[in-house]
Amino acid sequence: MKPSNRINKVSEYYFSKKLAEVKELQDQGKNIINLGIGSPDLPPHPNVLRELSQTSLKEDSNKYQSYRGIPELRDSISQWYKKIYNVDLNSDSEILPLIGSKEGIMHISMAFCNPGDRVLLPNPGYPAYTSVAKLLNLDIQYYNLSEENDWQPDLIEIESLINDKCKILWINNPHMPTGISVGMDALYQLVNLAKSKNILLVNDNPYSLVLNKNPKSVLSFLSNYENIIELNSLSKSHNMAGWRVGMLAGSSENVNHILKVKSNFDSGMYKPIQLAAIKALKLEDDWYQDLNAEYEKRRTLIWAILDQLECTYSKESKGLFVWAKIPSEYKNGEDFSDHLLYQKGIFATPGSVFGTNGKRFIRFSLCASQDILKEAITRINLLKKEIQCV
Ligand SMILES: Cc1ncc(COP(=O)(O)O)c(C=O)c1O
Repeated sequence: MKPSNRINKVSEYYFSKKLAEVKELQDQGKNIINLGIGSPDLPPHPNVLRELSQTSLKEDSNKYQSYRGIPELRDSISQWYKKIYNVDLNSDSEILPLIGSKEGIMHISMAFCNPGDRVLLPNPGYPAYTSVAKLLNLDIQYYNLSEENDWQPDLIEIESLINDKCKILWINNPHMPTGISVGMDALYQLVNLAKSKNILLVNDNPYSLVLNKNPKSVLSFLSNYENIIELNSLSKSHNMAGWRVGMLAGSSENVNHILKVKSNFDSGMYKPIQLAAIKALKLEDDWYQDLNAEYEKRRTLIWAILDQLECTYSKESKGLFVWAKIPSEYKNGEDFSDHLLYQKGIFATPGSVFGTNGKRFIRFSLCASQDILKEAITRINLLKKEIQCV
C-alpha cells in the first residue's frame, strides 16, 4: 500500500529504530547498559499504585470518561500549579488533562496552525516538535541554542524569525537535552514578545521538578493566558511515563480550541489512572526530595563516567539527563555513541538526534540504578587497562 506523502516527511522515531539495534545486541548475549532513554526506572509512590489497583476493581471504572478529564483531576492539577508554581488556574476552563504531554504537541499544532504557517523550534530540541510540524506541513524555523551562548535562547534572533505567518514559538524550560534553564527575566521577555507579536508561546515543562530547585511556569507572569500555553507531565516527576498522564493549561478559549481536536482523537483517560494521578499530585515535598536525592547520586556517577570518557559537561544542568561534549578525536556524536555501544556495551544518545547544534554532543540518561552506573564505570576502566596493556 502506498503511504501518504505526509509519511515520507518523517522517519521512524530514532529510539524506535536504535532500541531495536540495542535489543539485537542483547539477544546475542551482550550485556548492554542503556543510558539512552529518559524512561524512569523507579516506581511511582506506593499510594499511587494502591489507588490504581483498588479503583480498577470498581464497577464504573471501565466506562468511557469525559474528554476534559474528571473534575477532581482538574481540581488537583489546579492545586498543584498553585503549590509548585504559584499560578492560579480555573479548573473548569483553563486545564486540559492529556494522555501524556507528547500528544499535546500535535493537538496544539492542529488547533492553531494551518499548512504553511511558521513555527519556531529550538535547535537542539525534542524531536517531536519537528515531526509534528512536518506532518502538518508547517514552515519550520529553528532558533539556535549554542554552546557559545550557554545554550540560552537569543531573543534578537527569535524576534527576527517571527513573520506574519508565525503562529507558535516552542520553548522547553528546563530544556532537554541541554539541561539549561532560562532565567525569569528572559522568560518574561519571551512572554512579552509572544504578546506583542500576537503569537502563541508554548512552554513544554516536563522536567521542572527533576534536579531543579526553582520550578518555573510561563503562566506565572500574566493572568491573561491568551498568548501562552504550558504543557506538563507526570511522566518524569512522578515516575509514571508509561501511564500517560500529562496536562496543558492556558486560556479557556484556547483550551476549547484544543479540545475540539483532542475530543476527535481519543475518548478520555482510564478513570483509575486519573484517580491515581490525583494521589500523585497530592504527594508531599518529601516525594520530590527523595527522588532528587537519588538522581543527584546517579548524576555524580554519570559525571565520573564522562570524566573517564574525556567528555566535558556542565554541573548545573537540570532534568533527567547530562549533556556532554565528545572528545575532539571523534567525528561526531553518532560515531562516539556507536563506539560506546560496540566497544564498551554502553548506549547513550548522540546529540544530532536533537538537531544540528547537537552534533558534537551526547546525552546520558539518569534512568539507571547506581549499581548499573558503577558497572559502567568498571567496564570503561577495564577496557582502558586492556588498551594500555596492548
Ligand atoms: C522535552 C519533552 N517533552 C515532552 C515529552 C513527552 O512526555 P510525556 O511522557 O508526558 O508524553 C518528553 C519525553 O521524553 C520530553 O523529553
